[in-house]
Amino acid sequence: MKKRTQVGIIGAGPAGLLLSLLLAKEGYDSLVLESRSREEVESTIRAGVLEQGTIELMTELGLDERMNREGVVHHGIELRFDGESHRIPLTDLTGHAIMLYPQHEVLKDFIAARLSQGGSILFNVKDVQLSDISSDQPMIRFTHDHEQHELQCDFIAGCDGYHGVSRSAIPNALQAVYTRTYPFGWLGILMQAPPSAHELIYAYSERGFSLVSTRSPELQRMYVQCDPQDNIANWSDAMILEELQLRLATKDNWQLRVGPIIQKSILAMRSFVIEPMQYGRLFLAGDAAHIVPPTGAKGLNLAVADVRHLARALTAFYKKQQTDLLEAYTATCLRRVWRAEHFSWWMTSMLHRFPDDDVFQQRIQLAQLAYTVRSRAAATSLAENYVGLPFDW
Ligand code: APR
Ligand code: PHB
Repeated sequence: MKKRTQVGIIGAGPAGLLLSLLLAKEGYDSLVLESRSREEVESTIRAGVLEQGTIELMTELGLDERMNREGVVHHGIELRFDGESHRIPLTDLTGHAIMLYPQHEVLKDFIAARLSQGGSILFNVKDVQLSDISSDQPMIRFTHDHEQHELQCDFIAGCDGYHGVSRSAIPNALQAVYTRTYPFGWLGILMQAPPSAHELIYAYSERGFSLVSTRSPELQRMYVQCDPQDNIANWSDAMILEELQLRLATKDNWQLRVGPIIQKSILAMRSFVIEPMQYGRLFLAGDAAHIVPPTGAKGLNLAVADVRHLARALTAFYKKQQTDLLEAYTATCLRRVWRAEHFSWWMTSMLHRFPDDDVFQQRIQLAQLAYTVRSRAAATSLAENYVGLPFDW
């Protein structure tokens, strides 16, 4: 079957869904194609730290009702090392805060909003293929409900994440890929327990990194640094709890509140950027174009910033036949992307144990941590990156 839309969007993650909502607000048509089922998209556990700009954009779109009710505003984070906790007062230092609201809840709100506008999201699509992207009528071929479709578009947005197909439509000879694979992963758990702390705790210890985050008053999210090749079956619940307790221990005997672990998995850690983020009428956004390790909580927020630029550039094209914002898309996005790449790499390097490090390396990390919490300038630098620089920075 042949179909037509203004912007064909591949992927119903934060990038693809938000782009469809931003375009709809300006009166432009899009079709979102997603390979997974709606249930899977709405239940996959990911991070949930929303920067100030992300909160404001959701508010502008009228998507803040449940977020304001169920999300929790945090005005600080804790850095813990040498058995002591140090608060980075994000709001005092920057005037901004962050919101803890899980990514899959954001996705539920985006999907419900788009469908209630009469927008189209096709779930369970297969065999997505892009063609004619250097022409002004690019095409997406795909299978849905056992039927083959051809979607003719003015533009294609590749919002299909790190494992998607869009990126490979950019000719190899024109792509530059920059990457770092870290020699550790994160073992993430969901635990049924009340929160152990009011704010997120990023902890450095001789045994490795750990992070205390939260999902709801009854459900906590925590991570411990682990071998990325490790099998989750090697980690009993008791081992995970013991490791958390050892890594988070303080001189004043801080206590972790514990309960049943209801989910556990190991995530790899990498940094990745492809340049350019655009070729012909194909624009990549979010994880399709860049990955950051989760230490800075930037992944979702970078995806939001990309599609905000893209929606503005497409609006300028449709309203005023202006192409300068589209042409500047890669450069505009990459300024923020590389800032976030640096911040995430820096947080990761400061807080993790590396397999080949020695006492010198540990002293250097501790010196950096001490400087970060003791110097107002250094703490402010962490804080302004953590709450997110302005979109037009
Ligand atoms: N065809 C259609 N959809 C696809 C295809 C494909 N070939 N390949 C992948 N997808 C879908 C995935 O199933 C997923 O739902 O694209 C979506 C991409 O979403 P994300 O991976 O969430 O990427 P993005 O929207 O860029 O958001 C980035 O989300 O996953 C987190 O850590 C990530 O926080 C970051 C943020
Ligand atoms: C999470 O809640 O999953 C989370 C929070 C902060 C991070 C990473 C993940 O830096």
